[in-house]
Amino acid sequence: MFDDPILNVTGLCTYYGTSQALFGAEISAPRIGGVAILGLNGAGKTTLLKSIVGELQPRKGQITFDQEDVNHVPTHRRIRRGLGYVPQEHAVFGELTVRENLLVGGITSRDKSGIEEVVEIFPKLGERMAQYAGTLSGGERKMLAIGRALLSKPKLLLLDEPTEGVWIGVIEEIAERLEKMASEISVVIVEQHVELALRIASHAFVMDRGRTVMDGTCDQLKDDPQFMSYLTP
Ligand SMILES: Nc1ncnc2c1ncn2[C@@H]1O[C@H](COP(=O)(O)OP(=O)(O)OP(=O)(O)O)[C@@H](O)[C@H]1O
Ligand SMILES: [Mg+2]
Repeated sequence: MFDDPILNVTGLCTYYGTSQALFGAEISAPRIGGVAILGLNGAGKTTLLKSIVGELQPRKGQITFDQEDVNHVPTHRRIRRGLGYVPQEHAVFGELTVRENLLVGGITSRDKSGIEEVVEIFPKLGERMAQYAGTLSGGERKMLAIGRALLSKPKLLLLDEPTEGVWIGVIEEIAERLEKMASEISVVIVEQHVELALRIASHAFVMDRGRTVMDGTCDQLKDDPQFMSYLTP
């Protein structure tokens, strides 16, 4: 699908104990650009991202990141190699301040100046450096989580529902930043707001019950009647 993809995942089977959640899931991403992963609740989107980052160990399948087979590479090494991850839940340390959260994110790059760049992207964070992350609004917390992931200077950023629980006015602000990021690095986004996902991404993968059931350019998919049927409960 992409010439020289930064990420290529094939045939992924991941289990929670004996319960199988992924049944040969697939996804790939270009070195620069946005890719969306869409699907109903429980389709396996979070499980797929956790498998890519190494939080879950798939029983079968292949994960190639930046031309390396990373199936058995520990998470911290995947991150050091340029994989950024913003999880759906528990993405910030509530008992640490905004600044401390960012310092934790910067450890992998040993580059404290990166914090200024994050504040340029999300100025709201600059006003709240000393505030405990647990007291931030939903939108501010998402910005902090994205900012923290950026501090490790990722080549590929995996985002699990970056606008979930965020007030509509702030969603636009986050979406604009992600659009810009997708013009500079590789961005893989799981998103419930399909319109928004398709704005950031040029390609999409549709998941249903642990399988990748459709993929294509957003323009192709938008005109396919099957596409919306997979996204309607
Ligand atoms: N820790 C867990 N233990 C057992 N089953 C789990 C666990 N986490 C997820 N599952 C199951 O795996 C399947 C896929 O879940 P997953 O969280 O990946 O879906 P999702 O597409 O991210 O959904 P959502 O849109 O609601 O975030 C679901 O059937 C879910 O119940
Ligand atoms: Mg999820």
